[in-house]
Amino acid sequence: MKTRLGVNIDHVATLRQARGEGYPSIVEAAKTVLQEGADQITIHLREDRRHIQDTDVEAVHLVTKKFGKPLNLEMGCNDEIVEIAIATAPDWICLVPEKREEKTTEGGLDLISVANFEKIQKTCTYLKSKLPSVKISLFLEASQEVLLKASTLPIDAVEVHTGDYAKAHLNDESYDEFISQFLAAKKLLVEKNINCHAGHGLTQQSLIPLLEKNIFEEYNIGHWIICQALFEGLGPVVKKMSHCLSDYPYTKED
Ligand code: PXP
Repeated sequence: MKTRLGVNIDHVATLRQARGEGYPSIVEAAKTVLQEGADQITIHLREDRRHIQDTDVEAVHLVTKKFGKPLNLEMGCNDEIVEIAIATAPDWICLVPEKREEKTTEGGLDLISVANFEKIQKTCTYLKSKLPSVKISLFLEASQEVLLKASTLPIDAVEVHTGDYAKAHLNDESYDEFISQFLAAKKLLVEKNINCHAGHGLTQQSLIPLLEKNIFEEYNIGHWIICQALFEGLGPVVKKMSHCLSDYPYTKED
């Protein structure tokens, strides 16, 4: 099957919010990205609304529906955001940890703390009861202990945190250990019939070793694509990345 590309367009909203004008248009960004071959749009509605705003969620969802492609809404387990998600009914919800002071999501959800685990369990169950067709993914580290805990929850996918791997790749450091962890994560998730997604910090270059090893069936990439769009244009960057993914179809087998 085709390895899917989810394009995170949060940073189009970051540019807009920097000046508080109506441009660049998040709707135009969503349309361009889908026209050029992205398989999904990903947005993160943060508690502090630093980029994506409430009205963007509905607007982007209208675009994804028009293209017949999924909207993946990233969010923390926050009551207000949960209700917005229910009102919008995205196709996918990716639960992430969220800290107000962080520049970007810093790591996976903590499923080891009992209180946290119960909160995430409650949120998943509540979301599934209100939105029976929604698919849920959890943003997690590639730790066997964490993934085993996750496999007891009503989820459809795990999005493995690739931020530290991507940083090692960017700094020309060894990343073999990350690849081994990711392969072990895939094995466990395939056994549990849970989809294996990836995201955070990835670039065109750091994507390649993961594709060569056939580890993930979906990649959610944002910051690098929007930055590279400054030089190449959003459409051409997405087109190139989408073609690259087409060269590496995903299979559940190793
Ligand atoms: N996946 C998750 C869960 C994220 O929190 C983010 C950042 O919002 C991304 C993917 C995209 O990361 P990046 O912008 O570094 O490509």
